[in-house]
Parts: sequence; structure tokens; C-alpha cells
Amino acid sequence: MPETAKRSAREHYESLVSRANQAPEDFWAEQARRIVWFRDPATILAWDAQEHARWFIDGEMNICHAALDHHVANGRGDQVALYWDSPVTDSKCQYTYRELRDEVARLAGALRDKGVEKGDRVIIYMPMVAEAAMAMLACARLGAVHSVVFGGFSPKELAIRIDDATPKVILAASFGIEVDRVIPYKPWLDEAIELATHTPEACLILQREQQRATLGPRDHDWQECLAHAQATEAVSMLGSEPLYILYTSGTTGTPKGVVRDHAGYAVALHYSMEILYGTRPGDTFMAASDIGWVVGHSYIVYGPLLMGASTVMYEGKPVRTPDAGAFWRLIEEYRINCFFTAPTAFRAIKKEDPDASLMAGRDLSSLRSLFLAGERLDPPTYHWLNDLLPVPIVDHWWQTETGWPVAGNLLGLDMITRQASGPRAPVEARAGSATWPLPGFNVQVLDGLGDEVEPGVQGNVVIQQPLPPGCLTGLYHNPARFHAAYLAAYPGYYLTGDGGYLDEDGYLFVMGRIDDVINVAGHRLSTGEMEQVLGSHEAVAECAVIGIEDSLKGEMPLGLVIIKDAWRGDESALRQALAQRVRDEIGAIASLKDVLIVERLPKTRSGKILRKMIRQIAAGEQYQIPSTIDDPASLEDVREALSEAGVGLAGQARSA
Ligand code: COA
Ligand code: AMP
Repeated sequence: MPETAKRSAREHYESLVSRANQAPEDFWAEQARRIVWFRDPATILAWDAQEHARWFIDGEMNICHAALDHHVANGRGDQVALYWDSPVTDSKCQYTYRELRDEVARLAGALRDKGVEKGDRVIIYMPMVAEAAMAMLACARLGAVHSVVFGGFSPKELAIRIDDATPKVILAASFGIEVDRVIPYKPWLDEAIELATHTPEACLILQREQQRATLGPRDHDWQECLAHAQATEAVSMLGSEPLYILYTSGTTGTPKGVVRDHAGYAVALHYSMEILYGTRPGDTFMAASDIGWVVGHSYIVYGPLLMGASTVMYEGKPVRTPDAGAFWRLIEEYRINCFFTAPTAFRAIKKEDPDASLMAGRDLSSLRSLFLAGERLDPPTYHWLNDLLPVPIVDHWWQTETGWPVAGNLLGLDMITRQASGPRAPVEARAGSATWPLPGFNVQVLDGLGDEVEPGVQGNVVIQQPLPPGCLTGLYHNPARFHAAYLAAYPGYYLTGDGGYLDEDGYLFVMGRIDDVINVAGHRLSTGEMEQVLGSHEAVAECAVIGIEDSLKGEMPLGLVIIKDAWRGDESALRQALAQRVRDEIGAIASLKDVLIVERLPKTRSGKILRKMIRQIAAGEQYQIPSTIDDPASLEDVREALSEAGVGLAGQARSA
């Protein structure tokens, strides 16, 4: 890229950053004018240094109205809003903005008939069907707070969420399909309700034609409810009123219920669709994720629709449905302009089709950009993609809590600042980096004492308060946990839980979690929760779960257990039973790679297990033996067990 072009991209970027940092109210008031309000906000930002930012608190709008009705009223009624593509059931369909608005309005009416009102919680436990997106939008339309629970979670995990969110109604489907395995959503829902203390008043069950579920006394057939329902208008919501709760893994066994509002979220998503993804109304956008994750909320459902784009919802996998050419087929068939998925999906494709031979003959000319997130885009995958596709490959970093990207290469920068006709990368990417923080996110890297570190030095990645619109407004009915988890460590800053560094040119490198959260195939899991499950087995005296590197999934959980002296039994059967227990209690996605039996675990004299050191041994890294270690010989036990299992042989010790 010529020097002058580089300089001007940097200048544009810096002017936006300085406006967003120095005059956040003006900056976000301007962005707020891009979406439709029932009543414009007079208060843009309500914040003082002691508390968390709240945006647009007295504005009135409804995100469903902004995402659907507004576009129908402005000439987009006949444009496709949502394509649904399901290789696992061999079916497809599409809805225009008008059709989607009408379906959603009737579903909202059906929910109202079941007593759902503004402020009520509704759990959505569904596979990747178009009705799941409609369910989210219908809740939003009524002002009900939706909480989508990912289908890969077990009935027990669903029960935990039912008890926390206390939903009035639950929406589910009869079944889903994972490649070739049927996921029994309805039986699992029944099991979860049995396990939970709270009972919903009603369940609406989408009977999929391939396999119907038996309905009980509190269940209602989705289609029958729709047939009798009246279309319902969108309820006016104060800007700060909640849109959804999305549970995510924290460091303990209890998930965190991240709460997000209507207005701030809508403003932020619209801004990100433009400045980062470089999309415009009429474009086609696909995020290959699941509505159970934040990516699905923000960029399968709300973001593309707020922008007036067409979104593609996919009930399938990058491989095996039917092969590693699925993404290329989707891009060609729907003329996708911007595609988003997790790096692990492309590692899976690369493993099965290293030369991308299945791309041959596909017309990918519509594609303008490829975005990756959910985990760090590892340099080998970045280079593979960069060599393969003639479009910008953008690693961008964010998390459930922020709701939209914190850092990325701003493909829409020129479109906004210089009215350029299409997206392009304003700066050269650096492999392994998510490029620059987005305007509105004042990202810094601090050491343990709260001092900013030098460029290139790793530390804790934090964001200076106030966070921009769209980020979490709190944890559902748990302000104390919200404060302790995110705000207490560094007053005035939000703690992301990630470690990394900024280089001398301001590029952000996010290297991994600093807590007990791991990232398996782009799915965020808590090792603490897995330890709780292992520790509850009668044979287990103590245990630790760590994430170890995996060439496909990025990380895989590995358990180390000490068994009780009195326990007698077959050790290999025990290892299998423990792995199965984690799968049963948390869900299939928490697939433990293995459970190793050890004599001792390294601990401090106060009894704290030195998990970081175990991780370092497993990764073959240098580690520091703390002077507080209780029994240094325990390290040898761990090293031996790991090496017998073929994990990390080269750990090097240094004494503190
Ligand atoms: N419902 C039920 N079970 C599910 C599920 C769902 N929605 N999603 C995953 N699972 C199951 C899988 O079937 C698998 O079961 P198995 O152990 O019996 O085979 C298990 O959970 C582990 O799933 P996963 O870690 O996803 O591994 P996989 O081998 O099935 O697929 C990938 C690997 C890379 C193809 C897949 O993880 C993927 O497409 N990831 C990228 C996209 C993504 O979802 N990112 C999330 C955030 S952007
Ligand atoms: P989730 O809340 O499930 O979206 O997971 C968020 C976590 O995934 C972050 O805190 C990071 O640890 C990790 N993550 C997501 N995207 C990236 C990225 N582009 N680079 C590095 N880590 C990422």
C-alpha cells in the first residue's frame, strides 16, 4: 500500500478514536441518529467514574422494529432478509423483510397469548432453524427478555439457566441434527424442567416434519399457536431496558448471565456493520456460528437486519455436511459479500481439503471480505486463507460481554470517511494480531500493579471506562459478581480476562485467557466447571482441568485427578467414566481429551493447585517453581503422566 494511503488511513482512524475518547457523547449521539427511534434520547451517556456506563437511557425504540418494520416502511419489504440453508435436513427457504416482519409479529402475538409481557424472560432452546431467529425477534418485539441456550449444552446446564432466568415460557424444537446424530431437544427440555426448581407456564414446540415430539400438558404446538395469533406491534422500550440475557462461562461452575440493552446494542451493531465489516444495505452477510453464541445474536440476527442486509442462517457444519466445500457452495449460492466464522472451522476444512480443491469451479466473485473470531486467528491458518482468497482476511477480537468487536481492521473506514464505494483494508494485517482497537474502545495493557506496560510487553488487556454502547449492562440479578469479575481489579477499567500486548504501531495481539476459561473450537468453556463435575465423582480426591493445545480445536480440556486411597476399581474404566460424566453434565461440546490419574498435583503450601504451571509443563514451556510450592516432587508426577499420555514433554523448570 502506498505511504500516503497508509498515512491517511491512520489519520482517519486516529481522528475517530480521539473523538470517541474525548467526546463520547457527541460521537455516539451521531451514531444514534443512524437508527430509528420512537423518541430520540436526550441523555446520551449516564455515567460517573464509580459506575458502569449506561447509554441512551431515556430514548425509546425497539430493536425488532428497527431491524424489520423500519426497512419494510422504507422500501426493503421485498428484499430477502433471511436465507435458511439446512444440508442436514436437505431443505432451504427464504423470507423477505415483509414476510419476516409478519411471521415475527404473529409469533409475538402467540407469545402474548401465552401471557408473555414486557420484562418477562423467555428461554429459546433450538437448533439453527429460521424460527429460532424469529423467536428472538418476537421476544424483542414484545419487550420480553430472551435467553438463548446453545443446543450443545446438557439438560443439567439448561436447568441451571432455567433457574437463573425463571422464564415464563420456553421455546424449543422437536429435534436438531448434528451431522448424523439426532439431538433430542424436546426430551432434553423435559429433563431440564424436571431438574430445575422453576417451572415455566408454557412451552411452544416447533414440530419439525422429519421427527415430531410427544407433547405434554404444558406444551403447545408452535404452528397451531401461530394459526390463532394476531400480529402484534413492537412495544416501545426505553433505551436501557434489557433485550436479552446470554449465559457465558466464567471461572466458577455458575455461568454468568450477560445482560444487553435494546438501544445501545442497536447503535453499536449498526456502527460495526459499517465501519468494521464494510457492509451496506442490500449486501448479503453470513456468520457461520450458532444463535446460542454471541456471534449468532449479533451477526446472524440483529446486526445484518439492522443494516438492511440479507443474512444467511446455516444448519450445517464446515465439513461433513456433506464435505469441506460447504462454505464455498454457500458463498456462491447466496452471493455472500461478507463471511464470518471461527478459525477452527477453516482448520477443519484445511485438514480435509488442504489444497481447497473443492473451491474449484465455484464463483466466489461476490465475496469482499472474510472475518474470523472466537479465538485467535493462528498465523498458519491466516496465511493459508490469505494465499487462497483475494479478499482481506480479518482477525477481530471480542467477547460475549462486549457484544461487538473491540479490535479489527476497519474495512469500512474509507466508506465512511471518504465515501469510497466498497470495503478495503485500511492497513496491512499482521498475522496473529486483531489490528487496531475500534473507535469507542480505549484498550490498554496493564501489569499486575495497574501500570501500563511498554509496547511489545504482555499484560492484562483492559478497556478504559466508559465502555461504548452495546456492551453488557450487567450480570443478570448479580451486581456484586459483575463488579468483582470485571470492575474491581483495576478501578476505572473493564477487565477483559484476556492477556496480550500492543506493538509499537498500536496493533493488538490477544494471546489467550488469563483466567480459568478455555476456548475449544471457538466455544468458551470453564475449566472450573469441569473440575466441579470431576470432583463430584466418588473416586476423586482432587483434580485439575487445563486447556492443552490442539491443532484442530485450538484448545482441548485435559483432566488430572488424584484418586482416593480407599477407592478400588479399574482405572481405565474410571477415566472413561469421568470423561463421560463431563459430557453428560455439561454437554457434548465439553469433550475432555483425556483424564490422567496422578499421585500428586503441584500445590502451594496453602493448598492452591498450581494450574498455570501444569499448563506450562503440558505446553513444553519454561516455568518458574514458586518458593511456596508444597512438594516439588509432585511436578515429576505430572510430567510423567503427561508424557505417558503424549502431552508436552519438554517443560523446563527454573526455581524462584
Ligand atoms: N448441538 C448439539 N451438539 C453439538 C452442537 C449443537 N449445537 N454443537 C456441537 N455439538 C457436539 C458435536 O456434535 C460434538 O459431538 P461428538 O463429540 O459426539 O462428535 C461435540 O459437541 C463437540 O463439538 P465441536 O467441538 O464443535 O467438534 P466437532 O468435531 O463436532 O466440529 C468444528 C468441529 C470445527 C467443525 C466445529 O466446532 C465448528 O464448525 N466450529 C466453528 C464455528 C463455531 O461454531 N464457532 C463458535 C463461535 S464463532
Ligand atoms: P466468547 O465470549 O465466547 O465470544 O469468547 C470470547 C473469548 O474468545 C475472548 O475473551 C478471547 O479469549 C477469545 N477470542 C475471541 N476472538 C478472539 C480473537 N480474534 N483473538 C484472540 N482471542 C479471541
